[in-house]
Amino acid sequence: MMFSRPSFTSLRVLALCLAVTGSLADDITGPCDIYASGDTPCVAAHSTTRALFGAYTGSLYEVTRGSDNSTVDITPLSAGGVANASAQDSFCSGTTCLISTIYDQSGYGNHLTRAPPGGADSGPEADGYDYLSSAEGAPVTLNGQKAYGVFIPPFTGYRNDKPNGTATDDDEEGMYAVLDGTHYNDMCCFDYGNGETDNIDPGAGAMEAIYFGSHNLSGWGSGLGPWVMADLEDGLFSGYDPTNSPDDVSIDFRFVTSILKGGANKWSLRGGDSTTGNLTTYYSGIRPSGDYSPMIKEGAIVLGVGGDNSNKAQGTFYEGVMTTGYPSNETEDAVQANIVAAKYATTSLTTGPDLPVSTNSTISLRATTACCTTKYISHDGDTVHTAVVTSSSSDADKQAASWTVRTGLANSDCFSFESVDTPGSFIRHSSYQLKVNANDDSKGFGEDATFCPQASLNSEGNNTIRSWSYPARYWRQYNGLGYIASNGGPFNFDATNLFNDDASWVVTAGFA
Ligand SMILES: *[C@@H]1O[C@H](CO)[C@@H](O)[C@H](O)[C@H]1NC(C)=O
Ligand SMILES: *[C@@H]1O[C@H](CO)[C@@H](O)[C@H](O)[C@H]1NC(C)=O
Ligand SMILES: *[C@@H]1O[C@H](CO)[C@@H](O)[C@H](O)[C@H]1NC(C)=O
Ligand SMILES: *[C@@H]1O[C@H](CO)[C@@H](O)[C@H](O)[C@H]1NC(C)=O
Ligand SMILES: *[C@@H]1O[C@H](CO)[C@@H](O)[C@H](O)[C@H]1NC(C)=O
Ligand SMILES: *[C@@H]1O[C@H](CO)[C@@H](O)[C@H](O)[C@H]1NC(C)=O
Ligand SMILES: *[C@@H]1O[C@H](CO)[C@@H](O)[C@H](O)[C@H]1NC(C)=O
Ligand SMILES: *[C@@H]1O[C@H](CO)[C@@H](O)[C@H](O)[C@H]1NC(C)=O
Repeated sequence: MMFSRPSFTSLRVLALCLAVTGSLADDITGPCDIYASGDTPCVAAHSTTRALFGAYTGSLYEVTRGSDNSTVDITPLSAGGVANASAQDSFCSGTTCLISTIYDQSGYGNHLTRAPPGGADSGPEADGYDYLSSAEGAPVTLNGQKAYGVFIPPFTGYRNDKPNGTATDDDEEGMYAVLDGTHYNDMCCFDYGNGETDNIDPGAGAMEAIYFGSHNLSGWGSGLGPWVMADLEDGLFSGYDPTNSPDDVSIDFRFVTSILKGGANKWSLRGGDSTTGNLTTYYSGIRPSGDYSPMIKEGAIVLGVGGDNSNKAQGTFYEGVMTTGYPSNETEDAVQANIVAAKYATTSLTTGPDLPVSTNSTISLRATTACCTTKYISHDGDTVHTAVVTSSSSDADKQAASWTVRTGLANSDCFSFESVDTPGSFIRHSSYQLKVNANDDSKGFGEDATFCPQASLNSEGNNTIRSWSYPARYWRQYNGLGYIASNGGPFNFDATNLFNDDASWVVTAGFA
């Protein structure tokens, strides 16, 4: 009963809106307006890219910048519209920015902030919390307008452990999320949805969250993944069978609509291409055998981590909601049509001046910190360091400081840097240190060896070089060694002092 009132309220708001502005055709309709008209209203609505109610003009998300730790709220350009990305760009210009809050647009106050430690994993921050996402890791366009998604590397996550109005126990709920179908891994667990309020796994049925990735140790679908699955706690489910359900097919869409809904001894998994076409139902039926009926849902909200803060997975989130009630197929089909109409598309991952050479030419990179302006990025064996190199240095020293620019191994919009003296070996990060290692052609190596140049953080450099896979981290020299460092992160090489200078490089034609 407690949920009928908000649903009535949302319908009244919608009706009021229509009364003021005339017809629905004149109005923007958001996914949550569609869920409300199906009598399964949103009780949580999260997106950094757009408003999810046609009338919503409030804050979408908050960014915190590295230069002074100040924050700004990003709002839509208009009611129901796309986020004002240029507000983020100007606030973050010349510094680094993290997404510190993803606001709930539903009026229930279910905002998402940094995820706390849990039964499975603690986060790497000093207080055991997980990392925040870079604000710049997942640029996209919606209907041609730029916006930023939430790029979630391992050890990064958001959560709300004091939820308001979300489903508990065996209550009915629905949810969807729009994700990047090319950003995933096989670890546990890139989730969005219902989790535990104390971050501890009490056993089967305590969660009901969308999972996306290629983890195949409990449930899996057909092919090699990634799959949309359900994290019901103590396992991922692709259908009734607790292991393999072939109807849950591997995804190859860049933008994925993923859908999960559950109620008393029933649940369903659906998905599709967020840019075209209809949803496919991967499963619709009774709960898996075991202790899944009744469910013991707790109602917390997780994003990017499992219910016990299992935090080794990765993925990208653009928008998502949770509802009360079990949405009809028709309601979800209309939500999919709304997502398609939002016209998600990719855009460039690089900003600022291009590298001053083209793909396949060689470059050298000079430090810009006052201590070290004669030093270049070089390597000694597999260790990347900075070393003084001049036109009269030995050929070996020149070659060690020269890098061939290659198309990014994991993303062709970014770059990889092949060692001139050790062809086949690339600069990659490993435990946050820059290394030169042989390319083993694995997905993980390519991701660790892909970097996205952006405008320099100081005025002397040409470029600052962002890690594709950990976009809050940038190439930095610290005590003479190369790292991927975050501005104010937990490690000594993340120190804020001299961060912009240490992470800015003058890019020149290669010595060799
Ligand atoms: C911002 O806050 C972090 C964490 O409290 C701190 O390490 C850092 O020094 C602060 N940065 C600035 C510029 O004050
Ligand atoms: C978007 O943000 C910019 C920069 O803060 C601001 O000047 C502009 O007015 C905003 N646009 C809208 C439509 O609010
Ligand atoms: C919970 O949600 C209701 C319905 O939107 C809202 O009126 C109330 O203020 C919310 N409570 C909190 C603590 O945000
Ligand atoms: C799970 O994935 C691994 C690595 O890709 C693969 O070797 C294994 O065969 C897969 N297991 C199943 C059951 O598909
Ligand atoms: C796709 O969904 C729309 C409604 O959103 C429906 O009109 C159309 O028939 C569906 N197409 C197919 C192939 O199922
Ligand atoms: C939704 O569609 C699935 C697959 O066609 C079907 O099994 C299920 O009964 C439908 N649900 C409802 C409520 O109609
Ligand atoms: C790179 O920066 C250096 C030093 O500021 C400058 O002389 C050079 O013109 C820049 N190159 C490009 C291509 O912007
Ligand atoms: C760069 O070199 C690779 C390997 O030799 C080649 O396949 C590719 O076409 C070259 N790209 C450009 C832009 O020249």
